[in-house]
Amino acid sequence: MNRLAGLDAHAQRLAGTSLAALIEADPARARDFALRVGPLYANFARQRYDRIALDALFALAAEADLAGAMQRQLDGEIVNSTEGRAALHTALRGGLSLAAAGPHAQARRARERMQALVASLQASAVTDVVSVGIGGSDLGPRLVVDALAPANARLRVHFISNVDGNAARRVLAPLDPARTAAIVISKTFGTQETLLNGRIVRDWLGEGAAYHGGRLYAVSANVERAGDFGIPPERILPMWDWVGGRYSLWSAVGFPIALAIGMEAFEALLDGAAAMDAHANEAPLRENLPVLHALTAVWNRNGLHAATQAVLPYDDRLRLLPNYLQQLVMESLGKSVRMDGSDVGLHTVPVWWGGAGTDTQHSFFQALHQGTQAVPADFIGVVRAEHGHADNHMALLANLLAQVEALANGQDADDPHRRYPGDRPSTLLLLDALTPRSLGMLVALYEHSVYLQSVLWGINAFDQFGVELGKQVASRLLPALQGEAEADDAVTRELLRELNQRR
Ligand code: F6P
Repeated sequence: MNRLAGLDAHAQRLAGTSLAALIEADPARARDFALRVGPLYANFARQRYDRIALDALFALAAEADLAGAMQRQLDGEIVNSTEGRAALHTALRGGLSLAAAGPHAQARRARERMQALVASLQASAVTDVVSVGIGGSDLGPRLVVDALAPANARLRVHFISNVDGNAARRVLAPLDPARTAAIVISKTFGTQETLLNGRIVRDWLGEGAAYHGGRLYAVSANVERAGDFGIPPERILPMWDWVGGRYSLWSAVGFPIALAIGMEAFEALLDGAAAMDAHANEAPLRENLPVLHALTAVWNRNGLHAATQAVLPYDDRLRLLPNYLQQLVMESLGKSVRMDGSDVGLHTVPVWWGGAGTDTQHSFFQALHQGTQAVPADFIGVVRAEHGHADNHMALLANLLAQVEALANGQDADDPHRRYPGDRPSTLLLLDALTPRSLGMLVALYEHSVYLQSVLWGINAFDQFGVELGKQVASRLLPALQGEAEADDAVTRELLRELNQRR
């Protein structure tokens, strides 16, 4: 029997006890179920476990040897066994392990080269930079640039990811090719969307002014393919197979970040992540934030059987965090088989979704409060505002505190339509301020939590074979769409007939 199946007994024991009653019976949990790592505070008191269930969870953590698993990842062991690779994104952001000396040195050299390119672009006549990439080659830089780029940044950074030509059209329309540089980011340099969009941007740069003047850059693990695309080696920054795409914003994939916020701030982002790495590696299980976060996720999924998980940043600058986490968490943990190929035997990742408060209070919060299924949520707030609108910030924080309280406690009423059931679990994460350092810590927290969840489930957090089938079918259907072949599938054939008639 899977050892996580034992969580059911604790969930059943607690089923008749409301969250409000749990807290009333043990008020000290408000403080005891909280952890702080530097500028990052996390409170788990509104999760639907008690101390006994938590003991069981920490026993699982010890049994699964989470501490050893963490060490193995940081040491560069082959934790991605299906692809025979290490997962050494941690080596990109500070030294933790001698065994990773090779990757550390490669990372340092790449960062030095990136620094020189940042300096030369900053000193040039370029005003705008277009970053072309998708998935892990887009979401991280997009998140960090959206969160941290100053309004008056020396270089404005824009992103094109979707293969839909509207994406390129919209981004390029207001830009002047003579004052724009572009970066094509693709670990494989074989991704259909990125190659198509890269070509659009390359041609657009060529039309406006001398593309040969050197404003097209690449970030890739496949230097040869990037070269074939027309980018000379001195403008190609490296990636390596030991960095997974969705874990790569710390590498040269972060080039757009460094251009938007400056190299110093980019390094502060890395330092923040490295501080979380050190905490994840050194803190004892019970004081270890990624461990508690991962155990909570597994409790909500396998104990309480929650089908979805919300992430609700109460800071407009973090509005893209849910998009970013959807890839990080669901591409990593959306697996049904264990490392050895056997059926995992229980549910793994729930659907992650969310959006920024307070906007979302006026869209989907109705369902969070009164829907038939409780949705566990991570709420994320920022203590200090930096915009000078103090009244707005107080209102934002009041709403944040109100939502976590109302979801947990609910409210009784004679009229069933006005009744709030409560018992909706949440974790509250608070950053002292949104800085490159605190954002680096926050993202690294989620990375480690994801990995530790994968260890608890026995699955591989670092492969993504599930995305391949759709790509293969799409490449088979392209000729069918162009009338050069027949589709095998009867429904697809009918859909093609319909499409072709209307084109
Ligand atoms: O969606 C699948 C995927 O392989 C992601 O894991 C990756 O981040 C993305 O495609 C882009 O890949 P590449 O960087 O090779 O273009």
